[in-house]
Amino acid sequence: MLPPYVLIFVCAGFLPASMAESSAQYPPLWDVTPGRFQDYPFEANRFIINPWNYLERMGMYKILLSQSAKYFSDLGPNNEENLLWGLPLQHGWQFHTGRLADPTNVTTCGYEAGDPLCISEESWWACMNYHLCTLPVLAAVDAGIMGVSSDQVQLLPPQNDQENFCYNVTDCESAFPEVMGKWKAFYEVIHQSGHFVFHWLVWADVKNGGDLGLSWIDWLIN
Ligand SMILES: *[C@@H]1O[C@H](CO)[C@@H](O)[C@H](O)[C@H]1NC(C)=O
Ligand SMILES: *[C@@H]1O[C@H](CO)[C@@H](O)[C@H](O)[C@H]1NC(C)=O
Repeated sequence: MLPPYVLIFVCAGFLPASMAESSAQYPPLWDVTPGRFQDYPFEANRFIINPWNYLERMGMYKILLSQSAKYFSDLGPNNEENLLWGLPLQHGWQFHTGRLADPTNVTTCGYEAGDPLCISEESWWACMNYHLCTLPVLAAVDAGIMGVSSDQVQLLPPQNDQENFCYNVTDCESAFPEVMGKWKAFYEVIHQSGHFVFHWLVWADVKNGGDLGLSWIDWLIN
């Protein structure tokens, strides 16, 4: 029996086929989302990303999707079968359904009438997604598939609770070595042979007793 994370990958793989029919099925504001590191501010030799803004956080996924497209081209045209689509689609759904807004209503973060693109650090969904975005993206940077070097990406902290998050490759590797290591292993495998990825996932699951799934699913269920 396939573990749940494989199902997520599988669903992620099939969703975009129907998306091709209508751009409305891409994540919200996909067209105006940054698609290159060069779209972000560049200071002191680093790209500075504010992951507490919907467009800027979504942009990290958009870069990841486009940089990994070549590994999935055997599976279908236009990057439609990229297994990583599940990540931005889930984030778009969180945004669209208001889950990234300040649930305490102390601020107008995430509300149409206030700061609609703001992602609230008070939102459980936003904090869960932080790790489901920054770790796969920074691991891809470290794996060398994002076209920038490991010390060239710096994320900005939220106003409070800064110690709950990590902000660059070194920082995230020391805070979450296992998850970062698993994502890097995943990229190394797709780098070697994209179309073997399904076999590899199933094989890796058998080998690890489902352990690989933790890197994803932990964030979803905790
Ligand atoms: C916060 O504001 C929204 C919309 O203004 C409202 O629907 C929601 O019930 C409010 N939540 C709390 C906890 O006051
Ligand atoms: C990583 O981010 C932390 C926290 O912002 C910072 O203190 C550190 O200097 C950064 N390291 C690198 C290599 O950029």
